[in-house]
Amino acid sequence: MTRLATPEDMRAYGARLAARLRPGDLLVLSGPLGAGKTTLVQGIAEGLKVRGPITSPTFVIARVHPSLRQGPPLVHVDAYRLGGDLEVDDLDLDASLEDSVTVVEWGEGLVEGLAEDRLEIHIDREAGDEARIVTLRGVGSRWSDGWSDTPSDPPEE
Ligand SMILES: Nc1ncnc2c1ncn2[C@@H]1O[C@H](COP(=O)(O)OP(=O)(O)OP(=O)(O)O)[C@@H](O)[C@H]1O
Ligand SMILES: [Mg+2]
Repeated sequence: MTRLATPEDMRAYGARLAARLRPGDLLVLSGPLGAGKTTLVQGIAEGLKVRGPITSPTFVIARVHPSLRQGPPLVHVDAYRLGGDLEVDDLDLDASLEDSVTVVEWGEGLVEGLAEDRLEIHIDREAGDEARIVTLRGVGSRWSDGWSDTPSDPPEE
C-alpha cells in the first residue's frame, strides 16, 4: 500500500513502476471515477518514454503510444464503455500485446481473457484530502516476486 498525496506524486509513482515493467506485461487499473487511473498511466508513459499525450479517451477505447527510444509501446485501454468480455481483436490494435506494456482502466472482470498474468492496481481516495491509496496485487508467476502490497511497492531494484 502506498499513499500518494498529489497528482505529481502519482505520476512519479507511475514512472517508478514503469522502470520495472517489460514487454507483455498487463496492468489492470481499478478505482472510482476520478481516482487517478489516467494520472497513473501518464506517469507510466513518462517512465517508459513513449509518445503522449495520455488522455481519457472519449470514443477511442484503446491507443498505442510508441516508444521514443527502443522500448516497448504503451497500449492504453479505457474499458469504461465496453460491456462483456474484452477480446484482443475488438481493440483493433496495430501493436501486439506480447511486445507492449498494456494498461487497462476499468478492466476488472474484462481482461482475464487477455493474459493470465496481470498486475492489479487499485486506487482509492482518502477521505478529507487529495491523497490516493494505491494497492498492488500480482496474479500469476510473472508477478510472484514481491508484487503485492508489502512493504514498499513497486518493489525496489
Ligand atoms: N493524489 C492524487 N493522485 C492522482 N490524482 C489526483 C490526486 N490528487 C488529485 N488528483 C486529481 O484527480 C483527478 C484524477 O483524474 P483521472 O482522470 O486521473 O482519474 P481516473 O481514475 O482516470 O478517472 P476516470 O474514472 O474518469 O477514468 C485529476 O484531476 C488529478 O489531478
Ligand atoms: Mg481515466
